[in-house]
Amino acid sequence: MPFRARHLLGIETLAPDEIVTVLDLADSYVDLNRRSVKHADALAGLTQINMFFENSTRTQASFEIAGKRLGADVMNMSMAASSIKKGETLIDTAMTLNAMHPDLLVVRHPHSGAVDLLAEKVNCAVLNAGDGRHEHPTQALLDALTIRRAKGRLHRLKIAICGDIAHSRVARSNILLLGKMENRVRLVGPRTLMPSQVGELGVEVYEDMTEGLADVDVVMMLRLQRERMDGGFIPSEREYYHRYGLDAEKLAHAKPDAIVMHPGPMNRGVEIDGTLADDINRSVIQDQVEMGVAVRMASMDLLARNRLPATTGVMV
Ligand code: NCD
Repeated sequence: MPFRARHLLGIETLAPDEIVTVLDLADSYVDLNRRSVKHADALAGLTQINMFFENSTRTQASFEIAGKRLGADVMNMSMAASSIKKGETLIDTAMTLNAMHPDLLVVRHPHSGAVDLLAEKVNCAVLNAGDGRHEHPTQALLDALTIRRAKGRLHRLKIAICGDIAHSRVARSNILLLGKMENRVRLVGPRTLMPSQVGELGVEVYEDMTEGLADVDVVMMLRLQRERMDGGFIPSEREYYHRYGLDAEKLAHAKPDAIVMHPGPMNRGVEIDGTLADDINRSVIQDQVEMGVAVRMASMDLLARNRLPATTGVMV
């Protein structure tokens, strides 16, 4: 099982065989998670610290459950109450935690690149749980596992990623992963919500949902990430829903067996119709959450196997 990485900072640095390794191991953790007794001991005796500098519901819960099911001692740092609020830098906080010898550090941060920087300073495995608009690798891996299980393969599929691409680390990691696995990726949304270097991404771009969804196997919807917008990107939510909100009528242009995905949190009636989101014949949104725990178990298990032997002090 090839997996050479020492940190999981993004999809950009993962090779296709490493992606397959994570997904294959995650498949076995899906089975474990469906049993009534869900414990394994891959992380027994190890310490996992979750540092979330941005709000999170599912990602933080998912990493916590994943660590606990594998026997790690899991600590959630409450960053709102931490010394960062007293002016301590991210690196100083990380160094302080590093001196307590964690084995796995799970970090979410509002600034792109912050997690990479931190990984250079500590001597444990670092997992990026989302940094700014940059990457959210475990989200792309759980999306990939969901697609592979629903479609029976993860190559030569047509996948439309729709909505607020410009502000989305989920979109960026998915574009990279799906591209590496030789799928055709389309980005669908208003021009104002497309990333500036869209021409370099190796994707097709559509402004019209009907054209963009034509004949696709997978429709991935994204939230309007208003907290990252610094101006008026859309005329109004009503107008946006009319043009870009996914409903049964727009979905009818995709393949008859196309699946609907959303990373959450979902804004019903803004980017997606609530009834469609709940339609278990089309929507795999709950499967994505289930796959999330399994993918995080697999990622932490593989990183723990690649750990450097225990050392003292920090690498500065
Ligand atoms: C996403 C995120 O935080 O990047 N959520 C998630 O992790 N499931 C997407 C979003 O915030 O819209």
